[in-house]
Formats: sequence, C-alpha cells, structure tokens
Amino acid sequence: MYLLKDRGFNHRTPSDITPQAIYHARRTWLQRAAWGLAGAGLGPWAAGEALALTGPGKLAALPGTRSTAAGSMVMDKPTPYADVTSYNNFYEFGTDKADPARAAHTLKPRPWTVSVEGEVKKPKVYDLDELLKLAPMEERIYRLRCVEGWSMVVPWVGYSLAELIRKVEPTGNAKFVQFTTLADKAQMPGVRSSVLDWPYTEGLRLDEAMNPLALLTFGLYGEVLPNQNGAPVRIVLPWKYGFKSAKSIVKIRFVDKQPVSSWERANPSEYGFYSNVNPQVDHPRWSQASERRIGEDGLFTKRRPTLMFNGYEAQVGQLYAGMDLKKHY
Ligand code: MTE
Repeated sequence: MYLLKDRGFNHRTPSDITPQAIYHARRTWLQRAAWGLAGAGLGPWAAGEALALTGPGKLAALPGTRSTAAGSMVMDKPTPYADVTSYNNFYEFGTDKADPARAAHTLKPRPWTVSVEGEVKKPKVYDLDELLKLAPMEERIYRLRCVEGWSMVVPWVGYSLAELIRKVEPTGNAKFVQFTTLADKAQMPGVRSSVLDWPYTEGLRLDEAMNPLALLTFGLYGEVLPNQNGAPVRIVLPWKYGFKSAKSIVKIRFVDKQPVSSWERANPSEYGFYSNVNPQVDHPRWSQASERRIGEDGLFTKRRPTLMFNGYEAQVGQLYAGMDLKKHY
C-alpha cells in the first residue's frame, strides 16, 4: 500500500458483484434469535433496545447497545459487510487488499491476552474474556478514512478505550500510549516479509486515547471481529487515517515519551505521529481532499469531499487547539 506503488484503486470489490448487504433492523435480529444465533442472556438486546446488524451469521454474535457518545452514529449508509471484510489492509497477511480475507484464517484469536503495562498503577495482563466484560458493549457507526483515498462506514462493536485506561490508573508520567500488535510468523505469513518493521506499533497522546470516540473494538455488524479486520481486539480512531487503528493488539503500554509508530519509522516524511484526517494537508503521493467510498464505485460515482478530522471536529478539535497541523501531520 504505502511503500508500494499506488495501484489506482481499481480493484473490483464484492459489492460490484453481490447485492448490497442490507442494514437489517430489529426484526432480523429477532429472526436470528429464533434461529439461536444471537446468543442468550444479552440483556439490552433481549429488551430490544439495540440495533440489530447482521453479518452472514457465521461468527459468534457480539451485539452492542446503541452508543450515546457524541459523534458515534454516522448517518451515511454502512458499507456492505462483504466489502468491509474483503477489502482490507493487514500487512501481516500480505499487501494486497484481498490477501487478509484469504489468508487470515490462520490467525488464532483465542486464547488471547493483552498486557496493559508501563506507567500505570495497576498493570495487568488481561485475558480476552475479561476484556469483553470490562464495560458494556456499544455499537458505534464510524467512518474510517484510509490515507490511500478510500473510506468505509462500519458499525463497530466495542467500548471506549478510556474505560480500560481508567481501570489501570495511569501515573503522572504517562503522557502517551503505545499499541503493539501480534507478530507471529506461524500465524501471519506477511511477517516473514520485510515490508514493515514488525511488530506493527502505533501510538496516541494520552488525552487522545482518553477521548470517548477512541474505541476498543471487538466486533462489527453485530458479530465478533473477522480475523482480517483485526480479531480479537483492535483500536478504531475515526478521526485519524486508518493506519492508526491497530489490529490484533497484544500490548498497550503507557510511556512518557512520544513513541515512534511503524509507519513513521518506515517513512517519516510521509507518515506523522498524529495522522489526523486533514483535507488541507496532502500526503506526498495522495491528495487528501476527497475520497472514494468503498461499495459505491460506479463509473459516475463522485468522490466525496474529505472532512476535517473525518467529520469529528466537534468531538476532537479541541485536542489540537493551537497546534500547527501542517507541521504535526
Ligand atoms: N493493523 C495491523 N496490525 N496491521 C496493518 O497492516 N493496517 C492499517 C490498520 N491497522 C494494519 C493495521 C490500515 S492501513 C488500515 S486502513 C486499517 O487497519 C484497515 O482496517 P480494516 O481492514 O478493518 O478496514
């Protein structure tokens, strides 16, 4: 993607081929419940409060109640499930958009632990099951904008990263958070290549990580994350370019100095630490002024203008008040 030549985004996507996956309403969920697919004992869902979103029903259900976090419900039509799960960037499984869906079946999302460590009063190695229960699951419909010039709208399931951060109690020295993702050659064929310096790492300032929009994500479309989307746990940061949203996280470390992320290390002139979506600051190889929405491609489909902070300025703009965003790209 980034280091390779721009392929021009001419890939054929599944929505060209299959009918649009429909954003089903509650009725469908009730149907699935009748089929026994939706899982038992899921309080809010049973009460019918949540939206019901269906993937193909192959993965375990992971419903969430509709989030009340400001900005967490985008009115744009969600990108079809088939596209969300087949047009991916996950270099641990190859550099082509179709590679992860094809190759990620070798990833074992269970058992899984996430070590939360560094400048915190209560460091802890969390088992996935503990993390799943740490806070109520919410459904958040977010835009995700990739630096390559395309975007998606995804109904994610998770809870604010802030919930976890509060539990571990950062010390006064914790200024940044670093995410490290799995790099296991046995499970991830792409890790044998040197396209990136593995493991894939990303970072945030602590106040960015505490922003309610930062979502610790376990599912999409009402089901657990498909492997290619970063199972079993990833981060989703809707106001930043997609590469900041690290997949298959194994470590969250609180540190006092700004960490260097994998893409920054690979190409510092192209990838900055902040990487906030900004239509006024172009990437050296891609204009950021507009975007193509995956699943909407047609000969005459217009590109959409890209919005400052991907449309989340009201929620996150204050984090960057007074900063020169051309310098801190
Ligand atoms: N996380 C890991 N571990 N490895 C990756 O290659 N790619 C990033 C991000 N997280 C990546 C990653 C990029 S470039 C994007 S655009 C998003 O994941 C894509 O997420 P999606 O495939 O769920 O849409």
